[in-house]
Amino acid sequence: MVEVGNAALLSEVAGYYSDKLEQHGQSPRGVDWNGEEGQTLRFRELCRVIDASRPFSVTDLGCGYGALHDFLSAEGRAFDYLGVDVSGSMVEAARERLQGRGNARLLQASAPDCVNDYGIASGIFNVRFGRTDAEWQAYVERSLDELDRASRLGFSFNCLTSYSDADRMRPDLYYADPGRLFDLCKRRYSRNVALLHDYGLYEFTMLVRKQP
Ligand SMILES: C[S@@+](CC[C@H](N)C(=O)[O-])C[C@H]1O[C@@H](n2cnc3c(N)ncnc32)[C@H](O)[C@@H]1O
Repeated sequence: MVEVGNAALLSEVAGYYSDKLEQHGQSPRGVDWNGEEGQTLRFRELCRVIDASRPFSVTDLGCGYGALHDFLSAEGRAFDYLGVDVSGSMVEAARERLQGRGNARLLQASAPDCVNDYGIASGIFNVRFGRTDAEWQAYVERSLDELDRASRLGFSFNCLTSYSDADRMRPDLYYADPGRLFDLCKRRYSRNVALLHDYGLYEFTMLVRKQP
């Protein structure tokens, strides 16, 4: 399995999400979202990074059971899809769900094994278990380096926001500072970065567009 950093951390992440899938099945709750509306809204914001006027290839890092493939298909997009997830049971579920769709490939890993036009990561930075801010920030940055390395035209990701209401924040979740991550993306990855923090959830989406 291709790994980003800490094996113990990744196995904790995989165990957490495999349990969710076992409890709730192939549904938004099975990947720890509250419902389909929020899951779809996230996809819509993340996919703004894609130039849909031409066929494209996309890596879905933290693909869960492959719901992004359903979203892109429903939109009538022409695409090739690589779903990557650290949880073996998520990858199995996605494989079963997407079987027979010739444009899909799945991989159990924490990093893609090839370069695609775009990389998208929805929900992979939220649950930090007992990790400190510094540990989790380092993990986020390593994962973003991977997304950058594996995307030709751009990538996007979302994070819970540090602007969330204090009384609703949980210690096991990571609330990122959007300004800090915007600065990192501008300095490290591309001059063309958009921060979307206006879609009504306690989170933000970052779009990093690269020059082809
Ligand atoms: C919140 S769920 C979202 C699933 C999917 N993106 C969606 O929106 O339906 C996060 C998924 O990312 C996976 N994941 C978390 N961190 C990961 C990492 N570093 N590499 C690969 N997969 C990861 C988890 O196993 C889980 O299936």
